[in-house]
Amino acid sequence: MGNGKGDLPLRGDKFGMNKELLERTARALVAPGKGILAADESAGTIKKRFDGIGAESTEESRRAYREILFTTTGAEEYVSGVILFDETLHQSSVDGTPFPKLLAEKGIVPGIKVDKGAKDLALFPGEKVTEGLDGLRERLAEYVVLGARFAKWRAVITIGDGIPTTTCLRANARALARYAALCQEAGLVPIVEPEVLMDGGHTIERCEEVTFAALRSVYHELREHRVVLPGTLLKPNMVLPGKDCPAQATPSRIAEATVRCFAGVVPVAVPGIVFLSGGQNPQESTERLSAMNAIGPHAWELSFSYGRALQEPVLKAWGGNPSNADAARAAFLHRAALNGAARYGEYTSDMERA
Ligand code: 13P
Repeated sequence: MGNGKGDLPLRGDKFGMNKELLERTARALVAPGKGILAADESAGTIKKRFDGIGAESTEESRRAYREILFTTTGAEEYVSGVILFDETLHQSSVDGTPFPKLLAEKGIVPGIKVDKGAKDLALFPGEKVTEGLDGLRERLAEYVVLGARFAKWRAVITIGDGIPTTTCLRANARALARYAALCQEAGLVPIVEPEVLMDGGHTIERCEEVTFAALRSVYHELREHRVVLPGTLLKPNMVLPGKDCPAQATPSRIAEATVRCFAGVVPVAVPGIVFLSGGQNPQESTERLSAMNAIGPHAWELSFSYGRALQEPVLKAWGGNPSNADAARAAFLHRAALNGAARYGEYTSDMERA
C-alpha cells in the first residue's frame, strides 16, 4: 500500500491497516539506542508540572516549553518518537512549522495520546477504568491527517487491600484491546499501557504478581480482538516495591524481577517494551533500564517512554524563563543520551556528571 514517495504516507493520503507498515513503525520506535519522549501531559498534568517550577500554564507557555524539547539539536540520536497531547499536535514552532512536521523532518515519529483519562470504576471502590472509546475511530482518522503515526492509551491499576479485582483488570484490558484494534485499522501503532501504580506499601513480589495478571489479561484480549502483535508496543511499569514499602530493591533485583515477569507473559511477537517512569526519579529510571539491558539479550527490545524521568531536569533548567532555553535543551540532551546508553546496558552513574 506504499505511495511510491517514501515510507510514510503523505498527509491526506488514504491510510489504513497495513501490517508491514505498522511493524516498520513499531520497530523504528524501538531502534537501537533510542526511546520515546512522553510529552503528552494533559492540560491538568502539565499545569501541575509548571506549578512545580513556578511557571504559568497558558497555551503559549505550553507551546514554548514543548518547542524547546522538539528543537533540541542532537536529541534525534536518542529519541525515536514523541507522544503529543491533542493541543500540541495542533501547535507550531515560532517559525510556523507544525510540530508533527518539525519532528518528522528530524526523523522523529509523532504520536498522540488518545485516551480520555482513568475514571472511577462504578461499584469498585478504589479502582479505575480508562475512558475514550466513543468516537475514537473519527478522532484517529483526524490524527492521521495531522501526522500522527502511533498512539497511546493508559490504563491504571492500583494495588491495595483486595484490589485489583479481576473485573477491573478485564475491563481495562478490553478497553486497551478495542483501542488497539481501532488504531491498527486506522494505520496507527498502538502503544498499550497498563500501568500498575507504585503507590502503596506493597512488596516487589506483590507488584510482580499483579503486573503478571494485568499483562495476561491484556494479551488475552488483544488476541481476542485480532490485534496484530508485531504492530504494537507495550508500555508497562517496571516490577518495583511500592513507594512506602520498607524493603526497597536494588537495580539488579528490579531488573531480574521485571524481565522474569515479562518472559512468562509478553509474546515474543511484540517488538518492544517501552517502560514508563511512573514516579521513579530520572537517575533510578535510567539505571534500572540499563540493568535490564545488561542482562540481555531479551526477546524484545527494552526501551523507555519516559515523561517525568526525561523532563524533570528540563523543567528545572527552564523555570518558565525564555532566556533559559539553551540550558533546558542541554539538560534534555544530556538526559536523553544517558537513557540512550541504558538501551545498551552501558549507563554508569558517573555519566551523570559528564
Ligand atoms: P511517566 O514516565 O512520567 O510515568 O509518564 C509516561 C506516560 O506517558 C504515562 O502515561
